[in-house]
This record gives sequence, structure tokens and C-alpha cells, in this order.
Amino acid sequence: MQSQEINSKNVYDRRKKISVSDIISMKQRKEKVSVLTAYDYSTALICDKAGVDVLLVGDSAGMVMLGYSNTTPVNMEEMLLFCKAVSRATKRAMIIADMPFGSYQSNVSDAIKNATQFIKAGCEAVKLEGGKEIVETIRALVNAGIPVMGHIGLKPQTCSLWEGYKLQGKTKDSALKIISDAKCLEKAGVFSIVMELVVSEVTEIVSQNVSVPIIGIGSGSSCDGQVLVIHDMLGIYEDIKPKFVKRYGELSKLILDAISQYTADVKSSKFPEEQNIFHMRSEEFKELNKVLKKKRDKKIK
Ligand code: KIV
Repeated sequence: MQSQEINSKNVYDRRKKISVSDIISMKQRKEKVSVLTAYDYSTALICDKAGVDVLLVGDSAGMVMLGYSNTTPVNMEEMLLFCKAVSRATKRAMIIADMPFGSYQSNVSDAIKNATQFIKAGCEAVKLEGGKEIVETIRALVNAGIPVMGHIGLKPQTCSLWEGYKLQGKTKDSALKIISDAKCLEKAGVFSIVMELVVSEVTEIVSQNVSVPIIGIGSGSSCDGQVLVIHDMLGIYEDIKPKFVKRYGELSKLILDAISQYTADVKSSKFPEEQNIFHMRSEEFKELNKVLKKKRDKKIK
């Protein structure tokens, strides 16, 4: 489908920013929320043009943009740089900043201070990983006027330190914990919740029993919206290929072919071509040559 077609189906004015209340009302109208990660200006420009509702500046940036082996090393300074770039490009999509590991766990006032930096960088909300254990922080952020998106199920920031990347909600007890966490976050005032790598039965129960939109990643089709890491769905990041990702492109191969061709063209002088070259006006060039000749002749004498 062409991007024009996608856009024409969208109920929103393309010049108007999507707000927290727009996202909440999508659930009430049963309109699914499309979310993608974005970390740089050029990609955010394309996402916004294509009609993505929410751009998440995820801490996955630490892996796909900076090459860390998991999301824990990425810091505030790095995340702010990505957020500012995405913000410069985005007219319509709502921008949510992922608070990096260590930026909200130590105390509530640090969490507010750090979240405020993301709002000043042009984001409209922040996302925090965790359930019941972080409701006090979420409440404080919401009271400070900062919209918060929750993140439960698989929590990449801490799972890499504990049990690793595992499917969540497989047992009765773990399912009950996820349902209770979702309820706690709703009560604390989040406007939306990401559920990562949760069995679809549990996702459905949460979606039906929580008033705010549930945005799934690897959590089935009953969510109120979906999020993917853009490098995964475009086939750019090839280190990990999760089963839940649908590949909408194989950009890694396209980029590899294009760059290999470029290198070969430079080596064989096929690039640049005439159309890529700038010229002097011919009279000016003649004058230049006359001067150069005079200089050469003088040197010889
Ligand atoms: O960092 C990220 O990209 C995320 C999504 C996977 C939800 O948190």
C-alpha cells in the first residue's frame, strides 16, 4: 500500500500533533495504535510521513545505534541526543522517550529531573519499565505533569541481569503478576502500557480489563496497538531475529549491495558520472588556462 493511501485513511489532521488523549480515545474507538522506534532525524521524517502514530525513542538505541550488547549501558546524554533529532523531524506523531536504566530507579526526584529533560528535548511522554515496584515514581511523574507509558512483561533493562530474554506469563502465577502489575500501573496514572513478550491469552485478559491502550511487542494480536524496533522490521539489525518480528523489508541486503556497488564504481572510476560533476564556464576556464600558461612560461625563462 502506498503511504498516500495509508495517510488518507487516517482520521487525524496531518498538521496536528497526536496527544495523550488521542491515544486513549483510539482504544475507545477500537482504532489500533501504530508505534515504531525511531532514533534519528531522517528515519523519523519518513515514519511521520508514513502516518505512524507514536515514535518511541527506545533504549534499544543502545543496541541498534550504538552497538551495546544490551540496553543497560545507554545513558541520559545519549538518549537525549536521539530524542532531539527525532523531535526536529516530527510534526504529527507523538514522541515517547524511554528512560534509560539508572535514570529513574534511585529516587523520585532524580526520575522527575531526568524525565523533565526529555520533555524539554521535545518528547511528549516518557516510558519506564516495571510494575508494582515503580508505582510511586509513576505517580510522582504524573503529578509533575509528565505523561507516562508503562512497560511490563519482559523488561529488557533488568532481564539481561537476571533471567535473560524469556517468554512471560506462561504459568498461572506469572500471569496473575502481569495482570496485577497492569492494574497497578493503570491506577498510578499511565496513559498506555507496553507489554513485551507475553503469551497472548494473558495479553487479551489485560487488554479487556485495563482502560488504557495496551501496546504489544511479541504479545499477540489482542493488544490495542503494536510496537516494533524499526531496525528489526526493516531488516537492518541482523544480530537477533525474534520470531515475533514481521520483516517488512530486507534493508541490510539492499544497503550492502548498494555500498559494494559504490566501492566497485569508485575503484573502476565509474563514479562520479558526468551528471554528478560541476563545471566552470568555458570562457572562465580559457582565461584560467591563459594565466597558468603565462606563469609556466615565466618560470621557464
Ligand atoms: O527500547 C525499545 O525499543 C522498547 C520497545 C521494544 C518497546 O522498549
